Amino acid sequence: MIKAVRGVRDILPSETPRWQRVEAAARRVFEAYGYREIRVPLFERTELFARGIGDETDIVKKEMYTFEDRGGDSLTLRPEATACVLRAYIEHGFQVEPKPVRLYTMGPMFRYERPQAGRYRQFHQANVEALGETHPALDAEVIAMLMDFFGALGLAGRLELRVNSIGDTGTRPVYVSRLVEYLGPHRSELCGECQARIDRNPLRILDCKTPGCQPVIEKAPSILDSLSPEATEHFDSVRRSLDAMGVEYKVAPRLVRGLDYYVRTTFEVLTTELGSQNAVAGGGRYDGLIAQLDGPADPGIGFAIGLERVVLLLGDEAHAAGPVALLIPLGEAALQRLLPAARRARQGGVPVELGYGIRKLPRELERANRLGAEWAVIAGDNELARGEAVIREMSTGAQRHVPLDTLAEELLRLGGARTEPRYT
Ligand code: HAM
Repeated sequence: MIKAVRGVRDILPSETPRWQRVEAAARRVFEAYGYREIRVPLFERTELFARGIGDETDIVKKEMYTFEDRGGDSLTLRPEATACVLRAYIEHGFQVEPKPVRLYTMGPMFRYERPQAGRYRQFHQANVEALGETHPALDAEVIAMLMDFFGALGLAGRLELRVNSIGDTGTRPVYVSRLVEYLGPHRSELCGECQARIDRNPLRILDCKTPGCQPVIEKAPSILDSLSPEATEHFDSVRRSLDAMGVEYKVAPRLVRGLDYYVRTTFEVLTTELGSQNAVAGGGRYDGLIAQLDGPADPGIGFAIGLERVVLLLGDEAHAAGPVALLIPLGEAALQRLLPAARRARQGGVPVELGYGIRKLPRELERANRLGAEWAVIAGDNELARGEAVIREMSTGAQRHVPLDTLAEELLRLGGARTEPRYT
């Protein structure tokens, strides 16, 4: 038997109602804030990610699905969407549009990580980018929108928003050298990976989850004490705007994020309910990245939400609704009368299911129950002779007759009580 590849999963019909609910909430909230959808390819030139995400990041060093195509080009399945959206922004000349240019996209991302609950090799993100504006109020708006998305799903109270500023590229080296100076004497207390990071990428040590490293990390100097006056003012202003909007957050000076492109504002949304995979969303500002990808000197800020993790948090609360009715013809002649009625109901958006006259009535009624149909519509030779069908309410067993000529209207009426969306 051929099975799905490790770390990659099917999203089954029992789960898709929750996915649809999450995606619909994202679209509704993002569009209310003026974001427009862009759809970018699933693979790009490898160079885009190497330059866009950073050569020293875990993603680029060890997590990319990179392959050579038949023409000899090195391509990579997108591990995130930001670099792709910026590539499209530059390529299509979006910089001439009124700023900020607000874009969102949703879809699968690919990272070769060790799979575990909540962590997959193909996973899905809802990703947002606001481009061309440095004002700190935009940072606050972007963060508020993220929390509104969780609010729309009733999850806000179960999540914690953490915000930080990691300063400008110009002043960050000052902090990094302070950090390295502090870490030096503690080298032997750190895990192997962090020991290597001291020389390669010391900021990432702050993000290490290994319990042994925590005492050292907790006493590390705070990046907030090393910010430039401009970066401090920017962060204070973001916080004032968040406060004005009533967005609750914690300042987390050790929040550094795993991608190299961030400057100033960074943020993450965490849960305590999914074990070690506790980040449900993350993002930040990345002024300079567009220029680094050969585009204009436009700033940007954005975030991505891990949709698998959101769906896990929703649990089993959303169920797919069954059909409004199962139409049960008892024989070929009845089937030909019920087929057009089923089509008319479906054209009117009312979901119905149809037997093909090949099973006996008790089996079909059993099927109606298993499908979760609210009604069964039964037509045999006797009913056909009278030009009628029997409608049976599945929950009570109560039955009545309807003329076959008006059956489609009756189904539309019964289905009309069901309003969109089809998930509850
Ligand atoms: P990220 O923090 O790498 O940021 O990913 C964002 C979210 O995607 C994570 O918080 C997590 O919920 C989810 N995620 C990441 N990896 C996996 C995985 N292997 N399995 C399941 N879920 C996962 C970015 O990707 C940035 N591009 C966000 C951004 C947009 N920054 C600015 N604009």
